Amino acid sequence: MNKIKFFNGAEIPVEMHRAKVIQKLTLLPIEERKKYLKQAGNNQFLLKNEAIFLDMLTDSGMNARSDKQVSAAMTADDAYAGSRTYFELEEKIKEIFGFDFFLPVHQGRACEHLLAKGFVKEGDVVPTNYHFTTTRAHINLCGGKVEELVFDSAIVCDNDDPFKGNFDIEKLQRLIDEVGSDRISFLRIETGTNLIGGQPISLGNIKRVSEICRRNSIITVMDASLLQDNLYFIKVREEECKDKSIREITKEIASLIDIMYFSARKLGFGIGGGICFKTADLREKLKAMLTLHEGFLTYGGMSIREIASITQGLEETMDFDMISQGPRFIKYMVDELDKRNIPVVKPAGGLGCHIDARKFLAHIPDENYSAASLTAAIYLASGIRTMERGTASEERNPDGSEHFAAMELVRCAIPRRVFTMSQIDYAIDRIHWLYENKNIIGGLKFTQEPEILRFFTGEMAPLSNWQDKLVAKFKEDFGDSL
Ligand code: F0G
Repeated sequence: MNKIKFFNGAEIPVEMHRAKVIQKLTLLPIEERKKYLKQAGNNQFLLKNEAIFLDMLTDSGMNARSDKQVSAAMTADDAYAGSRTYFELEEKIKEIFGFDFFLPVHQGRACEHLLAKGFVKEGDVVPTNYHFTTTRAHINLCGGKVEELVFDSAIVCDNDDPFKGNFDIEKLQRLIDEVGSDRISFLRIETGTNLIGGQPISLGNIKRVSEICRRNSIITVMDASLLQDNLYFIKVREEECKDKSIREITKEIASLIDIMYFSARKLGFGIGGGICFKTADLREKLKAMLTLHEGFLTYGGMSIREIASITQGLEETMDFDMISQGPRFIKYMVDELDKRNIPVVKPAGGLGCHIDARKFLAHIPDENYSAASLTAAIYLASGIRTMERGTASEERNPDGSEHFAAMELVRCAIPRRVFTMSQIDYAIDRIHWLYENKNIIGGLKFTQEPEILRFFTGEMAPLSNWQDKLVAKFKEDFGDSL
């Protein structure tokens, strides 16, 4: 994929696949979009799909399947127990990652649920490069606490650090000295740190972290949900890895850790998940819980057709052409927005293009949720659904005060193998228009606020009539265009 040069010198990521099955999209007029937004309480999760043009909420379960995945699903062996299809997945995991023991689950957070119940005790600490929402919620529910150990510069939106997901080794050593390894349930490595913009961790850093953990008898757990993009970045950004194949890099990473889990809604182009273990005793700790919470050992809550799809999807994850498409589309979008002076997370990461809402909407204070406000404005202006990754995604402090997020981001997720370049250009154009009209955009307030994971189901309302003004300006500038 990275070898195609254009005569005119343009740098355009060319897809190494073609569409064989398509889904018709609709783009509603802006007045209709406004009605749907109100109905959804300004929460992008509550929008109906019929009202959405481009769905950039998430890549989770939204990646396009290949012809080989679809055909594998058709011939899956759907036995309740002992299915051939399940054993094929187990074999693929051994082959690619070198893990001999596996437990299937219905999706990523189910891995987190079982791992937290199996390993986290009251008062424990879980060091990690950066937390993920569901991971932290499960660890907290078991009485544990997450400690984030990225470098301070990792949460600066715009710098040139190619591996913002790296652990600050000094912080890690200090934490181990302070709390002692007995109180550390495990160390969690997120390959491709979701909440700080899909930023990767280097192989060199994983090696150092793993060495320290082995020396201190700390179990290492890798969240490999975003491993696909991270593998791409290791190959293209880490000098020592540029001549290694994706398979070699994957094997090396996996050899450094004890447990790996993944959401197959992201890794493997499917919908499911699983936990891989180096040793049988680690698996044994969670096995009984699997049959209680997920399903029998050879399906774990997943449809057997999904299992067949994931086995093939993991194979495709080892194909550099296949895994380049996502990060290269994201880089294109980041570069184009950057050229228009729109504040974005740089360097471009995996998962999606991340806009710095705190800077984009500098006139909106954190307590009025700049990132959530920008998602509402983007939907109004374009019919594109994006995701708030800022203060509204945080939980309040125990005293009820607001816990302000380190970053106020809007994520324009780019599910793999789904969008075309003209759709990305459309997104760039509408976001550019919004930036030119940013002063019209106002804040939001919660009208219904659940205590746990409020961003999923909470409802919000605009603080003024800014959405009417935005619609009026849109009509003025775009006339009868959708
Ligand atoms: N870990 C990471 C790094 C994730 O990004 C996610 C999900 C999970 C775990 C949980 O997996 O959804 O299958 O239960 N991220 C989705 C997202 C929800 O939109 O970023 P799950």
